[in-house]
Order: sequence, then structure tokens, then C-alpha cells
Amino acid sequence: MSPIVEKPTVRWEEAGSQRSALWLSESRVTPPARVIAGDDSLKADLAYRYACEGTAVVWRGDFENAKQLSSAVSRRFDHGRARRRAERPAAPSDTFHRHRMEAAQRARALGMILIELEPDYSVPLRRAPDIRAAVTEVYGPGRAPALVPLRDLLGMIGAREWRRRGIFVEALGARVFPHYGVFAPIRSEYVELVASARLPSTESAFDIGTGTGVLAALLARRGIARVIATDIEPRAVACAEENLARLGFGGRTTVLRADLFPPEELAPRASLIVCNPPWLPAKATTSLERAVYDQKSRMLRGFLRALPRRLAPGGEAWLLMSDLAEHLGLRGPTALRDVFEEAGLRVKAKTDARPTHPRIEDRDDPLHEARKAETISLWRLVP
Ligand SMILES: C[S@@+](CC[C@H](N)C(=O)[O-])C[C@H]1O[C@@H](n2cnc3c(N)ncnc32)[C@H](O)[C@@H]1O
Repeated sequence: MSPIVEKPTVRWEEAGSQRSALWLSESRVTPPARVIAGDDSLKADLAYRYACEGTAVVWRGDFENAKQLSSAVSRRFDHGRARRRAERPAAPSDTFHRHRMEAAQRARALGMILIELEPDYSVPLRRAPDIRAAVTEVYGPGRAPALVPLRDLLGMIGAREWRRRGIFVEALGARVFPHYGVFAPIRSEYVELVASARLPSTESAFDIGTGTGVLAALLARRGIARVIATDIEPRAVACAEENLARLGFGGRTTVLRADLFPPEELAPRASLIVCNPPWLPAKATTSLERAVYDQKSRMLRGFLRALPRRLAPGGEAWLLMSDLAEHLGLRGPTALRDVFEEAGLRVKAKTDARPTHPRIEDRDDPLHEARKAETISLWRLVP
């Protein structure tokens, strides 16, 4: 949970008086420069124009109407995007960068409808749901009025549902419960690769970048005596700890907040080191994107370079990686193998899986061609 005290304050004028509130947003780090009040009389065209010019609207009308307005703004945005896509450039990397830029612009525009929360996170609007628990899970207890983009609020409500229901992971035979902002194992292929690869030993393992703890749990379930899982994000650490304890592996697993590896003085080496890093080498623009984008392959390179030192004699590393970056032209065809070689690693074996998620069938997805060709691999590496 992000401590609320670090959040910036937004100030605006409304009905002749000065107002202020804490700014709570993961998708937009800086508060909007201009804020006005709006209600049910605000037409979608004007709201869209406000959003495009960077004016945020604190919603004073009916909560459900705010959701409808947001959908109407979104449709206007999609309409413009479809037009722009007709002139899409041919190179896959250009398509990718344009797709990301459009997604960021869309998120920024939709983030312009704001909801003011009471200090206890209740929403003083007609037909507003009780979101106090959902927001508390993300930001901790409230202390002062806060402004939150409606889009973020809807994300928190959705995340609470996931956290309550969990995701059934077949290879684990159990559910894992993702927290807000933590990478959720909705794609099963990579988990199955880890479930079926031959273990080099059952002595010890590290799971680097553990997220929900799903792979650490799988390794513990496969009989590894001692598993240390790390993640750089405090939310992931809390989430993995909770999942591992819930699954009954708390005694054999430790979760640490660390940049890549556990401290050497605590655990110098392991006989198996697993890592599922973010698959795309690109800049993360929000904290929520840091599990998906690895800028300049920093995590990947850092992980590989340290392996020869951190693997126990006879040990093996399992790197999970998709070749989507190669299909999108974001990584050269030999770049991954070049990094293995630079790090002094040899490929002992490689197992592949094809993605099964429904998005690969979506022909409207600008990245469709690359997604259709994607392969996910478990690289077994040895020094
Ligand atoms: C693709 S997610 C994988 C999560 C989980 N292992 C899984 O397979 O579902 C990558 C994870 O690496 C974490 N991460 C990113 N950079 C890291 C770093 N330098 N050190 C440790 N963890 C990192 C992210 O927070 C994220 O949880």
C-alpha cells in the first residue's frame, strides 16, 4: 500500500471557494493543472474536448452517469484512433510504439473525470458504490479528502474482485489471489512450462520477480525444500507472502523485497533460479506497467549476469521469455542468445509453448500479427 502522506495536493476553485484534496492516482503521477466541477448536464463532446486539452472535471453528478460519460469519451477516442490506424506505418516496432502512445493518450484523457472521496473513502454521489474497502486495500486508511480519476477507481473495484475471488492456476491445483498492481498469472502457458520442466535438484530455489508468488508456490509444491522469492515492488512482496502462507508453503518459503537477488550474506546460491521478467524491452510509464516493460532489458541483463555467481554447483537457471519482442522488432533475432553468451551461460535445453489466450484471435488488435506468431520459452541455462 502506498502511504497516503506522500501524495501531492490538488487545488481548484469551485463555486467561489478554494478547494483542495490529496491526489491519488497510479496511472497519472502528476495532478492535472486545471480542475473544474461538472455534473449530469455536461455533454460528452465537451467532456472529450476538456479531456483532450488537459482540463479535469471533478464529478458532482450521479456516479453511474459519470461511468457513462467516461464510456462516451472513450468511444470518441476510439473513433479517432480507428481513423489514425488506417494510416498505420508498416514496421512492427512503429506499430508498437504508436499503439503504446495511443494507449497512454487514451488513459490520460479518461483519467480526466475525477471523483472526490471523503476522508474515509466514501463517495458522496448518487448511486455511488461503497468503495471504501477497495481503496483502503490500495492506499491504506484515508485521512483527508482525496481526488481520484474515475478510471483508477474502477480499476481498484475490479482488482478487489480479483483479490476476493482469486485465479485458479491449474498447474498449481489452487487459486492465487492477486493484489492491485501485481502481475496476475492469467496466462497459463509459462506456469505449465515451470510445472513440467525436470528439476535439477530439490534442494533450494530462488524465484526472482515473484509477483503473486505463483512460481515460488509451484516450486514448493514440486518439493523444493527451500524457496526464496524476491520482488522489487512492495505490493508484490505482500501479495506473494499472503499467497504462499495461504497455500501452506509459508514455512518453506521466504519473500524479500530486493532488486533482483536476495542478499548474498543471507542466501549466496541456489540450485535452481527461476525468473519470469517483464517480456518487453520498453519504458514503463506508470508504476503498474513495471511488471510488463523492462526498460533497456535492465532486469533481464542483471539477472543473467549474476547467474554464474549465484548458481550452486550443478545448478540451473530457468528463464521464461516470450519472443513477442523479436516479432515486434524491439529485440534483434540473436540478441537474447548474445546476452547469454556475454554472461557466460550455455543453453542446456529450451521448451516452447504457444499462447492460448483469446487476444491472439483479435484481428482488431494492432499487434495481432506479432501476437499470433508468439512463442513462450523456458530456457534452461547453465554456466
Ligand atoms: C512478468 S512479472 C512475473 C511475476 C511472476 N513471477 C509470474 O510469473 O507470474 C515480473 C515481476 O518482476 C518484478 N520485478 C521487476 N523488476 C525487478 C527487479 N529489478 N528485481 C526484482 N523484481 C523485479 C515485477 O515487480 C514483477 O512482479
